[in-house]
Amino acid sequence: MATTLAPNGVHDEPARQHRRLDFPTQRPHSLCGARCGRWYRQHAHGTRCRARGARRDAPLPWKWVKLDPLESGRLAYRYYKEKGGCGSASYLSLLTLLKQKAGYPWTTMPDMLMVHAAAGFGGHGTLCGALAGASVIINMVTYGEKRDEYLQNNAIVDRMFWWYAEQDFPSERFDDLSPLPKQIKVKAMSPLCHTSVSKWSLAAGVKDLHDAAKIERCAKVAGDVVYIVTTALNEFFDGKWVAPVWRPSKEVEHCIGCHGPGTPTQKPRRWNQQGHMECLMCHEDHTA
Ligand code: HEC
Ligand code: HEC
Repeated sequence: MATTLAPNGVHDEPARQHRRLDFPTQRPHSLCGARCGRWYRQHAHGTRCRARGARRDAPLPWKWVKLDPLESGRLAYRYYKEKGGCGSASYLSLLTLLKQKAGYPWTTMPDMLMVHAAAGFGGHGTLCGALAGASVIINMVTYGEKRDEYLQNNAIVDRMFWWYAEQDFPSERFDDLSPLPKQIKVKAMSPLCHTSVSKWSLAAGVKDLHDAAKIERCAKVAGDVVYIVTTALNEFFDGKWVAPVWRPSKEVEHCIGCHGPGTPTQKPRRWNQQGHMECLMCHEDHTA
């Protein structure tokens, strides 16, 4: 059927879905953990236990603890190679440190949640997976925060994408871990995996994306993203993070004036496009 992704999708299995919904009442002690389990075994109808089980459904935001940006960045570099690419690299490096240093509820998150984001999600070349994995954590710790008048809690995500597009990747921050230090640097131009990787590969003369040089480059990019995100979140929760106001580049400033989206200082005439990417990557300038 057109509505399911898999040929034998979940729509065909109402019985299994039903069982899954019943799960908490059938096996409460496995949800509540060992201490609660003992209590439950002594009392056949574990209402108190179920209440603790409900605590598992921890609402956002979850606690951020101060992390060392270099430590998390280095872990991301390593995880790129060991844990399935850029999506895992960023998400799992931050998650691992949060599990270690903050514990519950981070300990309930699955390690491989973002592995599908590699190569711009399933090899599709859309959003860079390092940005995707990091933005999951950003949302989980800042959800509901309203410190920025412009984009509220999404500001860190937006600024991270914008920062990424402007970077000459990769930095030399992780060169001591790398068999290929001092690689050629190229501006990513957009948060898209396809442009970021393709512009670099052309400049580096890499013709096959399985090339060790490309793997190194992307592992370092994942490290760079996590380094910056850790720095921003540390500052945010220290009350020191000031969202830099988005400024369109010179080439597209006039586009924004007419098409939006507005900035705090500039209201568009028409808000008929959304996005902070470089317009000329895809459009001709019809006013030139
Ligand atoms: C002086 C105002 C102005 C500026 C500056 C401007 N545009 Fe437009 N643009 C318009 C108007 C008016 C239209 C007509 C369609 C509409 O907005 O409904 C239009 C249409 C478009 C369309 C839709 C074309 C179509 O096929 O319908 C695109 C895409 C676009 N502009 C992109 C840009 C980009 C990119 C820039 C900067 C490089 C830019 N515009 C600068 C006013 C402007
Ligand atoms: C990744 C490619 C890409 C980028 C980057 C991009 N656009 Fe577009 N934009 C498109 C496509 C595709 C459409 C659909 C219309 C078309 O085919 O021209 C579109 C449509 C539009 C329209 C018409 C929307 C409407 O509903 O009338 C405007 C206006 C526009 N873009 C402005 C911009 C501006 C301004 C920027 C920069 C801030 C920008 N675009 C960046 C790909 C892009």
